[in-house]
Amino acid sequence: MAALAAIVYIGFRESPEARLQRLQARYSAVAAELGAQCPIAAPEDQAAFDRCRQALFGKSALRDSLPEVLLWGRARGQPIKDTPLTQFAPDVYAGLYAPLFMFEGRATVVFDETEQLYKATLPVRFRNRLAPGQFPYPFWHDATKWGAYQSTTALLFYISPGSGRIKVAQFLPGTVDAPLAAQVAADVAAFDGQWLWTDAAGRTQPQVTLFDGLYSAGNPHLAAIESAYRALALELREGQCNDCHIPKNPNKMKHLVLLQTPAHAAGEVRRILRSVRRGEMPQDDDGKEKALPATVKARLLNKAEAFDAVLTEARQWEAAQKQSVSDPN
Ligand code: HEC
Repeated sequence: MAALAAIVYIGFRESPEARLQRLQARYSAVAAELGAQCPIAAPEDQAAFDRCRQALFGKSALRDSLPEVLLWGRARGQPIKDTPLTQFAPDVYAGLYAPLFMFEGRATVVFDETEQLYKATLPVRFRNRLAPGQFPYPFWHDATKWGAYQSTTALLFYISPGSGRIKVAQFLPGTVDAPLAAQVAADVAAFDGQWLWTDAAGRTQPQVTLFDGLYSAGNPHLAAIESAYRALALELREGQCNDCHIPKNPNKMKHLVLLQTPAHAAGEVRRILRSVRRGEMPQDDDGKEKALPATVKARLLNKAEAFDAVLTEARQWEAAQKQSVSDPN
């Protein structure tokens, strides 16, 4: 009790300078680790990308600084409250999004008066020449977004002062020059509207969304994750969830929730179960609850539960592998 009181007391007494120093030290360490695990490399370097995402998806300083639901998007020079953002579970951000950047290893923390939050700026570059299946979905569905991602100069982490965790993360676009603009236009023209597709070798893409390279290739549950997701995806379509929960954000959701790939849906499956059970989802265009026919609802819940169960098995298998490596008995 005495120790707790002392902690609260110190927390209460912390001066703005001390708090800034504490957050600067913490985010310098986060940035240094990112610089070591995800250093500047060639933008097409798959091995560098794999090392980076495996490190971040595991136990990392970045991951320790993520909230339960991270808000992520492009910095648009507007207050955060007026900026569209996407919601991500830590697995999805640490495994699929953050590793798309290469880090210089430095961070500068300031207090942002407009947002009334601390802000860490980390200089980065974007891996814009990976194979299409290495991106969580085709960012080139939208020319502005694809140009912005590729020209990124820094990540901005807005930090909750109390917890010291990131609340909102944004990428800060630089200049889109003429050659980049031409490349963007060509990529956008080639996009066929599919968020999931099958490549010439018959593999489902984007392969990163099937936990390829995040879970061990020997994980016996990988095939079941894909089939359980496909079964769920049919029910999501039936429930009209795709009218809103896709990257094009047709409903102009302020904090978009994505469900269109196995990894995205895996990050949200508990919230899918909760919101559908409570009858909060789906909605209509005015945000009013829209009842699902009982049989559709029952099937959707059943497939979501099955997907959740197989994800749990896959995670447990990974954890057991790590255990047996660290403990040979
Ligand atoms: C007409 C548009 C629309 C449709 C259709 C729709 N949703 Fe949503 N959904 C929303 C909006 C808007 C939010 C709130 C986002 C926010 O937090 O700002 C939301 C939030 C969610 C969330 C996060 C809830 C939470 O706990 O915060 C989940 C999960 C979700 N929807 C699942 C579904 C599923 C599953 C379906 C299909 C059965 C569905 N939605 C259909 C618009 C829609």
